[in-house]
Amino acid sequence: MTALNLSQNKIAANAETIPEVNLLDPAFKANPYPTYAALRSAAPVHRVTLPEGQSVWLITRYDDVVTVLKDDRFVKDWRNAKTPEQIVQIPHQAEVLAKLDHNLLKLDPPDHTRLRALVHKAFTPHLVAGLRDRIQTIADTLLDAVQAKGKLDLIADYAFPLPIIVIAELLGVPAEDRDKFRAWSDMAVSTTSYAEVEKTASAMLDFTAYLGVLFEARRAAPQDDLISALVLSEEVGDKLTEDELFAMVYLLLVAGHETTVNLIGNGTLALLQHPDQLARLKADPTLIESAIEELLRYDGPVETSTGRYASEDIAIGGAVIPRGEMVFVVIGSADHDPEQFPNPETLDIGRDIDRHVAFGMGPHYCLGAPLARLEGRIAINTLLRRLPNLRLEVAPETLSWKPGLVLRGLHTLPLIF
Ligand code: HEM
Repeated sequence: MTALNLSQNKIAANAETIPEVNLLDPAFKANPYPTYAALRSAAPVHRVTLPEGQSVWLITRYDDVVTVLKDDRFVKDWRNAKTPEQIVQIPHQAEVLAKLDHNLLKLDPPDHTRLRALVHKAFTPHLVAGLRDRIQTIADTLLDAVQAKGKLDLIADYAFPLPIIVIAELLGVPAEDRDKFRAWSDMAVSTTSYAEVEKTASAMLDFTAYLGVLFEARRAAPQDDLISALVLSEEVGDKLTEDELFAMVYLLLVAGHETTVNLIGNGTLALLQHPDQLARLKADPTLIESAIEELLRYDGPVETSTGRYASEDIAIGGAVIPRGEMVFVVIGSADHDPEQFPNPETLDIGRDIDRHVAFGMGPHYCLGAPLARLEGRIAINTLLRRLPNLRLEVAPETLSWKPGLVLRGLHTLPLIF
């Protein structure tokens, strides 16, 4: 995933009312919501230009976001959208990165459908519910390690390790190799320019070499884990090619590393900044289900979707997106659209919502949603129960947010208790 730095490409007709979008600006990242509100009213389908010169469209209204996510004319694989003239302009991609591109988020039917069917069973709510006790034990063990200290960095000590341990165990990655995965996964999502892609490619070569050895080990001695199941699918026929196997494990590891951490981090920060809502949840932990949905809506981990391409000229929200151009739906904006969510800037953990798009929508709806929800519920309720005096150690304005458009999360969250 390449994080994006965008510069404004103004539309002359209403240039005065369209806000400056400087995605490199830490102030934007700290609070992008006012900018999104202005885009929703002045330029809901807005074309911006990447520093490298490529155009992308930001879709900011809820209704348009849903339309794009469900419209199969917006495709994930650029080969299904671009004209031959556009294709020759695409920069050459290092071989290893092209290999990892055979993942669900970059594919359309029929490949997407076939690959998703291979893994979706491992993530159904029923199977995921079986992980409850294990997730609880992990949460408690992580808090045991900090309890005596009176302080913790919520991200490094709790929010980050918890989902990693879970996904590593599901896949069957040995515990002692977790630190390596952290580095690889950070690298995969933190690239902020094409100039950094070379560095990423070399790290990804190490990553695929490591995975190759792990796949061999599971081939020789299958275990009760997802990698063994996938390796078996590859062996028994044409269900999964070798590149697809690498790409699937890569995507699951990245998704498992970089998202739920931010649900726990952003969610805890939001609660600490709204003492009335924090007190409400502490008084009634059964509110956790609606609380997690509201925290996903209010400051969710995924700020924009991954890219999609118009496979023909498509009219939407008063604009026409030309064939071959890239579109990002802005999830963080859709989930603050007042047309859908009254008083969207108010955090209300009892809010009755069933339609936020924090996990996306349509064929690419998050495969890990049941797992992420369960992890978030257990993590936040356990934290509040065990550390009831939790508070921020630093002023909220000093907290720094990771750069990049797709993901939304803090570098650190120092807390005392
Ligand atoms: C709170 C945590 C999470 C959030 C907010 C989240 C959000 C999302 C979103 C918005 C998408 C769709 C992206 C798009 O359409 O462009 C997505 C897709 C996906 N997510 Fe998650 N995710 C989370 C956790 C996880 C976890 C824990 C896993 C797996 C271990 C996971 C696996 C996936 C996969 C495999 C896809 C691609 C599905 C497809 O293309 O068919 N996610 N996620």
